[in-house]
Amino acid sequence: MTPDLDSLVAALDGIADPLGGGGLLTSGRATPPRISGETVTVVLDATGLDEAQRKTLDQTVTSALEAAGATKVRLAMTAERSGPIIVAVASGKGGVGKSTLAANLAVALARSGAQVGLVDADIHGPSVPLLMGTGSARPTAVGEKLQPLTAHGVKVLSLGMIVEPGKAIAWRGPMAGRALEQLIEANWAPANLLIVDMPPGTGDVQLSLLQRHKPAGAVIVSTPQDLALIDARRAIDLFRSMHVPILGLVENMAGYACPHCGEVSDPFGSGGAEAAAIALDVPFLGRVPLDPQIRAASDEGTPPATGDGAGAEAYRAIAERLRVALNL
Ligand SMILES: Nc1ncnc2c1ncn2[C@@H]1O[C@H](COP(=O)(O)OP(=O)(O)OP(=O)(O)O)[C@@H](O)[C@H]1O
Ligand SMILES: [Mg+2]
Repeated sequence: MTPDLDSLVAALDGIADPLGGGGLLTSGRATPPRISGETVTVVLDATGLDEAQRKTLDQTVTSALEAAGATKVRLAMTAERSGPIIVAVASGKGGVGKSTLAANLAVALARSGAQVGLVDADIHGPSVPLLMGTGSARPTAVGEKLQPLTAHGVKVLSLGMIVEPGKAIAWRGPMAGRALEQLIEANWAPANLLIVDMPPGTGDVQLSLLQRHKPAGAVIVSTPQDLALIDARRAIDLFRSMHVPILGLVENMAGYACPHCGEVSDPFGSGGAEAAAIALDVPFLGRVPLDPQIRAASDEGTPPATGDGAGAEAYRAIAERLRVALNL
């Protein structure tokens, strides 16, 4: 007897993805069942699963499909997706300095000899072309694969490079997710590390990245204000719920060095992020001062991490701790 597709679909999606994100179909872990005579075929993506989880998943899916009427089940488990490891730079709230940190971390890592790519995943407000000074340059494609641009020793792609300016606003979650996929699956070689500048908040694009391209870890950016830290907690919770390790918290705009008198003040308070990191049990990766020169250099497309000075030193120190956290 031919099994009923709806029952098979319901059975498959009734199994929770071992790494979160809903049922196996919802999370993208499994392809929809294909029925051929009495045989039901499903392809499972093994990305992010260890040996034991793969085995359990194989057994759970087989029994569920059999219980839903399949006489013969054929499961194919695809290999772990290879490619660069992904580090997401995220925050719960906008405007805290994610893009600036992502760009400068990438530059600092490249300066220390790493092969790094930078992906701008912010579809509504792409800022990497400005920060890295690539202007209106567009990537070419070879076959299906986009060829990243290179700036300041870093390979770079931004949604802002492939979408007409002003058009992205109408994009819905799934389209944004597909566009992001093209960026992540671009020809990054020889980069083996991708820093992804995430859009603010915890919406569709964030989820699709977490489900399809499991990052090796996340760096959370916060300003010292309490309110921003509450948001940082929300971002940390999202990554934790998807089993993405938090590599650490960075406090941005910490302390203000007056360009005229040199006096350092703390307009947003200080030490809040470090205390929060301890309370949340995540590593503290360091702080970046609120420095008008960081803003000016960023707006000119010359990341401060390319030079010397206090800002460059702060980014270098954070990049170093990140390398240690990633075992690079
Ligand atoms: N440490 C700093 N000192 C001075 N200015 C900074 C610092 N970090 C970021 N900025 C400035 O703050 C503004 C916001 O930074 P950025 O765009 O990186 O934030 P974001 O979190 O990516 O924002 P969004 O949520 O909109 O993507 C920019 O003008 C940037 O130049
Ligand atoms: Mg940004």
